[in-house]
Amino acid sequence: MKLVILNGSPRETKSVTYQYLRYIEANFPMHKYKVHHIGRKIKKIEKDQEYFDLILKDIKAADGVIWIYPVYILSVPSQLKRFIELVFERKKLNYFKGKNATSISTSGKFYDHLAHNYIHAISEDFGMNYFRGYSAEMMELLKKKERKRLQNFAIQFFIQCENKLESAKVCLPLTFDYPVYNPSKIKVQPKTKKHKISVLTDASESDVSLNNMIDTFVKLMPCEVTVVNINNANIKGGCLGCLNCASENICFYPDEHNAIFKKYTVEVDAVVYAYKTQDRYLSSGVKIFQDRSFFNGHRPVFMGQQHAFFVSGPLKQMPILREAIEAMPEVGRANLVGIVTDEYTDSKQITTLIQNVIDGILWGIEHGKYTRPKTFLGVGGHKVFRDLIHTYQVVFPQDYSYYKKHKLFDWPKIFFGDFSFILKPLMWFSSFRKRFFAQSDKFLIRMFSKVIKKEEDEKTKK
Ligand SMILES: Cc1cc2nc3c(=O)[nH]c(=O)nc-3n(C[C@H](O)[C@H](O)[C@H](O)COP(=O)(O)O)c2cc1C
Repeated sequence: MKLVILNGSPRETKSVTYQYLRYIEANFPMHKYKVHHIGRKIKKIEKDQEYFDLILKDIKAADGVIWIYPVYILSVPSQLKRFIELVFERKKLNYFKGKNATSISTSGKFYDHLAHNYIHAISEDFGMNYFRGYSAEMMELLKKKERKRLQNFAIQFFIQCENKLESAKVCLPLTFDYPVYNPSKIKVQPKTKKHKISVLTDASESDVSLNNMIDTFVKLMPCEVTVVNINNANIKGGCLGCLNCASENICFYPDEHNAIFKKYTVEVDAVVYAYKTQDRYLSSGVKIFQDRSFFNGHRPVFMGQQHAFFVSGPLKQMPILREAIEAMPEVGRANLVGIVTDEYTDSKQITTLIQNVIDGILWGIEHGKYTRPKTFLGVGGHKVFRDLIHTYQVVFPQDYSYYKKHKLFDWPKIFFGDFSFILKPLMWFSSFRKRFFAQSDKFLIRMFSKVIKKEEDEKTKK
């Protein structure tokens, strides 16, 4: 069988993910593997039409397509994202149509599912039969049991290709049928407050709704707002995964990215990210900006900030992007005030929603940097990061020191503390267990009542 491998890692043959493919090649030499290092060659692919066509020709002739990629900031690397955009822009979907596809990723298992779901959705948009991919923790190929698992995965995919099996589809085509957001005259509010607020956007001139949303926000916000358009910034390229940044938190690219990131997303009270959707996610330009934030390591530097998103595009049909948008502030320990999209027929409604976001941002800033408690997105995300930094402390010394200093190695404490050493053996006895559970409700309520009563007493004293 002929298989085409689209490698999204900018690390090309040095890529960890690529080693997983090499392992499959070594075990199944009866198949032909044609690898295209999309992540490394994206600039050439963009400029050299012949080279792009060659890749497409290989795909057309293939019996199966395997996307391989590292997870980069909750999705695929910006370079692979750009390749996908090129396929749409150049209207080359037909080269992929009817092919069986799957993917292999490596990662620290932090939001790996979003990267997989994204590639799944894109594969379906390309008309492919996508079979669920293989998400490996980066080092697990070193374990015998995992190698066996990878072999079985490959065998199953080969069978699916040989028999041209059809996969169950999970996505509907995207549609967008809303008028341009065009607010009636917005009255500029006096800039009486001194909070630091920025808007980061990738809006181009043609993104009328998005530009109008930003304009409304800037006018209605009672303090100065700095709008930064990342399209106009000197950002030389996507993250190359070199990890040079890990020891000192400085990226090797001599460009404006790190300064913009620090000044307009870290040293501020609130940020609005005003982005347009592109295919099933944000644009590759935004993805470059996000991937490059890896220089900051895994430190939650947005603690206590107020975040909001303005999105132009069919976000209501994009659960993958929505989850990423909800996860990012939670993981960064910021407060997600709201998400406003242009999916409304009445512009007045959008203006009201923008006003609500402004009120929410101000309220949050002025109420002790209010942050809603984390859900699974933030709690789970933190635990994965915490364990990762602990495991790879040699690679990430800055992160390690930061986590130690800020007490982020918050390993779980045993409920009941030292009593648990007595309680645990006693719980083996059913008579004790019965008494324990009979008492436990009373015990719990007593604990809660104590703090409630204390506050009640304090209130009546006042
Ligand atoms: C810019 C960047 C962003 C990353 N983002 C994530 C992430 O969101 N989730 C995760 O689990 N791992 C993340 N990682 C870790 C990589 O997925 C992991 O190291 C992977 O094995 C690298 O594969 P490669 O050598 O094939 O490029 C990130 C690494 C880099 C360099």
